[in-house]
Amino acid sequence: MSAARSSRAEGPRVIVALDYAEAEAARALVGRLAPSQCRLKVGLELFTASGPALVAELADMGFDVFLDLKFHDIPNTVARACERAARLGVWMMNVHALGGPAMLRAARDVVERSAHRPLLVGVTLLTSHSRHELGQLGLTDDVDAEVERLAALAHEAGLDGVVCSAQEAPRLRTTFGTGFCLVTPGIRPSGVAAQDQSRVMTPHAAIQNGSDFLVVGRPVTQAADPAAALMAINAEIRA
Ligand code: C5P
Repeated sequence: MSAARSSRAEGPRVIVALDYAEAEAARALVGRLAPSQCRLKVGLELFTASGPALVAELADMGFDVFLDLKFHDIPNTVARACERAARLGVWMMNVHALGGPAMLRAARDVVERSAHRPLLVGVTLLTSHSRHELGQLGLTDDVDAEVERLAALAHEAGLDGVVCSAQEAPRLRTTFGTGFCLVTPGIRPSGVAAQDQSRVMTPHAAIQNGSDFLVVGRPVTQAADPAAALMAINAEIRA
């Protein structure tokens, strides 16, 4: 069984996004959560502020950590960065599929050789890009077709999956099968405001659509009781 499939079967489906500027704020939230209930995502802001020590600290606490740094550089540089990230004990990391096949294969090769084998997923198109902006980048196909093409690059290079919207999940699941891991942000529990997310989906609907892991930020981090909010999301997933 691949790493993606075994991890999916075993642990929580929610990845809480630690979108904080300082380690102290992240620690305060994490202190109210349990590794049996969620995994954690460390992105550019928190990593730039607090560095690899915090990532290793969270992993040592027993949490599965998704290091969301979206590497995109020449193959050698990305491979070396992935190697360092794997040594931190992260559970998942990502690279931009737009980095191209050679970069994706270089990242996959080092991850596969690492003693502690993290999942490696690709970012297809950033959902923040407008159609106009994609055209300015020379990406003139239909957005769904662009996403599928980039997901195919990730799949062919042997990555474990992609980050995508839950709306895209059914088509990607059909095309790439059950072994390909789909990580979906833009999740809002029933009755919770969408905030700045334009296309949101409930936890239950996202799972029904074929998502493996749901990235959830503010519905947990800004809740009056984050542990209760997480518990409600987990209940909605199981429903
Ligand atoms: O607070 P919220 O649930 O909207 O946070 C979603 C998280 O998922 C944030 O860390 C955001 O950067 C990330 N993300 C996203 N959309 C993408 C890729 C990542 O919202 N397409």
